[in-house]
Amino acid sequence: MYPEDKLAAIAYGDDVTLTDRDLASILNGYEEMDEALFMASSIVLDRTLGRDTYLHGIVQITNECQRNCYYCGLRRSNDSQPRFSLPFGEVMNSLTRGYNAGVRSFMLQSGELLDERTVSLVEHLLLEVEKKWGDKVAMALSIGEHPLSDLERFKSKGASRYLLRIESSDRELYMKLHPRDSIHRYSSRLDCLVNLHGSGWETGTGVLVGVPWQNDAHLAGDLRFMQRLDVDVCNMNPYAVHDGTPFAKERRLIPPAEERLLKYLRMIGLMRILMPDINIPISARLLSVHHSGPMRALKAGANAYMANLTPAKYRRNYDLYGGKPAETNSIEVVVNDAIRLCENVGRPVKLLDPGVSRHYRKRMEEKE
Ligand code: 5AD
Ligand code: SF4
Repeated sequence: MYPEDKLAAIAYGDDVTLTDRDLASILNGYEEMDEALFMASSIVLDRTLGRDTYLHGIVQITNECQRNCYYCGLRRSNDSQPRFSLPFGEVMNSLTRGYNAGVRSFMLQSGELLDERTVSLVEHLLLEVEKKWGDKVAMALSIGEHPLSDLERFKSKGASRYLLRIESSDRELYMKLHPRDSIHRYSSRLDCLVNLHGSGWETGTGVLVGVPWQNDAHLAGDLRFMQRLDVDVCNMNPYAVHDGTPFAKERRLIPPAEERLLKYLRMIGLMRILMPDINIPISARLLSVHHSGPMRALKAGANAYMANLTPAKYRRNYDLYGGKPAETNSIEVVVNDAIRLCENVGRPVKLLDPGVSRHYRKRMEEKE
């Protein structure tokens, strides 16, 4: 069967398996193939999880980072980036305003800082959240590769979801995206992910799509990696070139922006078909990279929207991607914009819901 016919059969509800070769040719794509893919992936999403979109509120607690990833504006050697750390009260204020606007799923995000001050700040925030809202909210962390002992501390204070992107599951490509030193080891990242997954965390990972040297075989491998790891959440990004990074000098290796977006959308579509019940969030930041990005991603099979609740005066300095003017909207406007955007593509936001991945729920039930 041709891949296009397989996609039509999947849309119809047949149990069809996509081979590695199918994945590569669908990723390579053309217009009719894309239509068949996004038709199939959106039907699979409707059938499995329905039309609702979860809303996750992100607060970026610091933009400091000890790592030096070649693609990222927050890398420690980028000294054109003013660094900030949000005071405890400002984080709580953002969360409270998000809560009052109906958000019940939050993510604390930062660069990677492993010092005791950061760990205990996160702990105190989690404790405060637990005291205020208990299990009415889900707390996610995306704060880098922490040792098991830290993860245990976070978990005992009420965090339940963790996002650690593998960035690329191919060891060689991973090594080209990062400096070769002891804090950028592929094996430690993988170990951290396996630990998270095995110790009861709702586990999210994902990759960058469109980075230098990446081909369709790498991306097909990434899809298989996420299946093998049995992730609960898959959170990917189209790569955006940031001028303050070494990769900005590698322009000839970087595919055009539209191609990066399209590959990213195909990855979402395929991920949805391969793992129908996971959460696939998209970042509001996509909107400033490509104005149609979030809408197309929701139509391709994404089912969660990450709105940035960081106070506007800090938000402009959390510049992973570069190049775009800062969003200056208040938290209430950010939440309303997200609601409107999702509504417009027929995937309405489900407010007052902690947005737990169905895949994770099932995994935990089976464990009991
Ligand atoms: N383009 C897109 N995503 C990026 N990230 C970092 N730099 C970029 C970039 N230039 C993402 C990485 C990382 C997260 C903090 O941001 O995937 O996990
Ligand atoms: Fe730091 Fe993450 Fe950026 Fe790497 S990708 S430099 S770990 S913020």
